[in-house]
Amino acid sequence: MCGIVGYVGSREAAPILVEGLTRLEYRGYDSAGVAVLNGRGVETRKVAGRITALGELLTRTPVHGACGIGHTRWATHGAPSERNAHPHVDCTGTVALVHNGIIENAEILRARLERAGHRFATETDTETLAHLIEDAPGATFEERVIAGLAPVEGTYGLAVISEADPGKIVVARRGSPLLIGVGAGEYLVASDANAVLQRTRSVVYLNDGDIAVLTPLGYRVLDRAARVQDRAVDDIEWDLETLALGHYPHFMLKEICEQPDSVRATLRGRLLPDEGTARLDGLNLPPARCARVQRIVILGCGTSWHAGLVGRRKPLRLPGTLTVAISQSGETADTLEALRAAKAAGSTVIGIVNVVGSTIAREADGGIYLHAGPEIGVASTKAFTSQLVALLLFALYLGRQRGLALAAGRTLVRELERLPDLVARTLELEPAVRALAERYGDARNALYLGRGVNFPVALEGALKLKEISYVHAEGYPAAEMKHGPIALIDDNTPVVFVAPKDPVYAKVVSNMQEVKARGGRVVAITSEGNGDLRRLADHQLSVPATLPLLSPVLTVIPLQLLAYHIAVLRGCRSSRSCGSRRPTTTSASAPGRTRSRPPP
Ligand code: M6R
Repeated sequence: MCGIVGYVGSREAAPILVEGLTRLEYRGYDSAGVAVLNGRGVETRKVAGRITALGELLTRTPVHGACGIGHTRWATHGAPSERNAHPHVDCTGTVALVHNGIIENAEILRARLERAGHRFATETDTETLAHLIEDAPGATFEERVIAGLAPVEGTYGLAVISEADPGKIVVARRGSPLLIGVGAGEYLVASDANAVLQRTRSVVYLNDGDIAVLTPLGYRVLDRAARVQDRAVDDIEWDLETLALGHYPHFMLKEICEQPDSVRATLRGRLLPDEGTARLDGLNLPPARCARVQRIVILGCGTSWHAGLVGRRKPLRLPGTLTVAISQSGETADTLEALRAAKAAGSTVIGIVNVVGSTIAREADGGIYLHAGPEIGVASTKAFTSQLVALLLFALYLGRQRGLALAAGRTLVRELERLPDLVARTLELEPAVRALAERYGDARNALYLGRGVNFPVALEGALKLKEISYVHAEGYPAAEMKHGPIALIDDNTPVVFVAPKDPVYAKVVSNMQEVKARGGRVVAITSEGNGDLRRLADHQLSVPATLPLLSPVLTVIPLQLLAYHIAVLRGCRSSRSCGSRRPTTTSASAPGRTRSRPPP
């Protein structure tokens, strides 16, 4: 995924673009660039590397003008280099554009354009778009963009400027998010709301298929036939302050430590203690609909998939399928595609999403917002615990509609009310986790094992370690370990058991015995007050005791901290998952500060 920002107004565009790109750097940081209309033509500045390097280049060789576009790149087509950095221009150098997404028929289009005499300067799929627009017919710039895009297959979020039409940005969206920031006498376009927050909190989320035209006087949203469309103006939920690092060295640690508050925010106003149920206003699932649900399908990728695995219960009978799409960003392409397929098949779709106004949130029939605040670190942490809480609220609501006893509902509500404090107590384990990281920081493999609702926590612990520390880690159902992975065990391979006191605890303990019998090192994440493991586990980290169903919200926290501290100790830096989100600060190359999501 890459990041796009554009500005048109009365101020110098370049500093605003650089500031916006800095907030998007977690989307890609191979290379970056801007193009500005300077009154005479299009002037571009590009660098291989990070946004700080672009800022330095612009200080040495400034570009002046009040209309421009910028991009931070995560290479897909063509190596990361200055040449392949966006913006890309047409043969005449008068049209410049930035693009997120993948042009699937780029090779065919390129060959056709080259036969027609176009000269390509880069290896990117994006450049094709500039040449298509160069040749496209149309009375206005926007008509030329629409016509240029007609033969394109694939996905794009696009912002284009042209010397022939100064003071105008044309943007287009298909399968890659874009929004317009609505300021006073100035308008921005960005792939992510964080990039416009410096100038405005009012945004218009574009739909797939939308084209928009931005000038200092206003904006218009059009369809492919250039007919004006109505789009609502929304408010961004968070402000610049919530995006700041504060006193934390890295965003990942900040977000781990925010979990008492993010869990509290997910619960706020949603628990009804007397009725023993949850109030979920945005769900759009009235009691009669709940009664008709026969089967629930949960969609999600990565960490959100793990949250979905925790939320999964034995499938019921068809039909009457309800689909639940889980996503922090609300933009993950695979989840979105599956959501659309489910809708097309007639399923009602519920979104469990953090980013308000995101595509999944808008396309779902109803949903539960996490309200966890912006998640900036590459590794999803607080979104995961809030997803689990949202799933518990959903299960409670649905359960009470479908025969769950009042007493059982009340018990769950009471325990959910305690949860933020239990999360805060779990965070007190940090010094012990850091010590553990020091012991195993140089291990080359790690195994994470769990059963029942804590099996997905084992998967999540392994994912965090791989993603942030580049250590090979496998998450496995504890019962499966003896069917193969047991061969990996040696005295420097930590085997992390997620083993709170729950109905499957005894079975997990017998799996620990198997590891010990082979000389393995057992790290047990268990419940406070559990003295059973003293002789069996080499290391024990105890989280507060809670209901088994709620335990994943706590057991995952030491695993998040472990991945974080191992990454810090291993000095993971300047690579896919450990690069900086805010390179201008002292801890520029730090774990959890850049998303490592693959491009959609
Ligand atoms: O925004 P989403 O929750 O849809 O993202 C899905 C995954 O890409 C994401 O959870 C990813 O696995 C995390 N970076 C893992 O820490």
